[in-house]
Amino acid sequence: MSAEIISGKEISDQIYSLLAGRIENLTQKFGRPPGLAVVLVGDNPASQVYVRMKTKKCAELGVFSEEIRLNADASHAEVMRHVQELNQRTDIDGILVQLPLPVQCNEPEILNAIAPEKDVDGFHPVNVGNMLIGEPTFLPCTPYGVWYMLKASGHSPEGKHVVIVGRSNIVGKPIFAILCQKRAYANATVTMCHSRTANLPEITRQADILIAAIGSPEFVKKNMVKPGAVVIDVGINRVDDPSSQRGYKLVGDVDFDEVREVASAITPVPGGVGPMTIAMLLCNTVYSFERRNNVNDHLRIL
Ligand code: GUN
Repeated sequence: MSAEIISGKEISDQIYSLLAGRIENLTQKFGRPPGLAVVLVGDNPASQVYVRMKTKKCAELGVFSEEIRLNADASHAEVMRHVQELNQRTDIDGILVQLPLPVQCNEPEILNAIAPEKDVDGFHPVNVGNMLIGEPTFLPCTPYGVWYMLKASGHSPEGKHVVIVGRSNIVGKPIFAILCQKRAYANATVTMCHSRTANLPEITRQADILIAAIGSPEFVKKNMVKPGAVVIDVGINRVDDPSSQRGYKLVGDVDFDEVREVASAITPVPGGVGPMTIAMLLCNTVYSFERRNNVNDHLRIL
């Protein structure tokens, strides 16, 4: 058996078609486009790539975007000052502080300083709480993208056993919170595993839907996957590749070549979950604009 490939590129393009007309109408109606500010501290290469991709997509869709780039030695107070300024700006609907932050910055304090109504990453504790209790809120972009991909590809998690490998605040925990909700396209039985889980392969082999988000290249092998399972790979890892011009290649947390032989469907890396993250960020930015302008029939993808 060779698995169906779930293309995040194709699904995200469908979202962009839906958003493009909506953004044009909103810009005409309110006399300004939705606005997104991204704060990037330091020169982490992966973060630079993400921020560039976000800015490019905003430009393509007619969303105003502003990048605030600070040196790697920027102080905690300086980052806080920028966040507070952005909170006050009427032309900015979404604020995203790119993670990870350098050690001198207190990450929880900075995320806590973002106005919850502009928190398009869904990382503010108020929004995390609302997500957990199933109230409407900004969902973190990667988990939101995973959920949307399952829905759009016809692999509803309802009644299924979903096993998540990885317990990060930005991926594993929110996916857990979203998929266990009492709601259409959720209603899953969710198990969370992590680096200290005993007998991990025994548990992952019980998954109808297996979600890998551990940040370890090609960690999930064939023997960890039940035949016929749907496998979602959230990992993006750079590994050395002397045969490539740039000297590295991108691989996921799943050994794609091995696992595609047993899974019924699988997401590739690149071109899987990655493109979904940016699409959902733009959904959240449009949603924020609409909420801030009291649009009643606001964007509701969830
Ligand atoms: N770093 C890795 N993923 C993300 C994300 O979704 N949002 C932010 N702000 N930083 C990240």
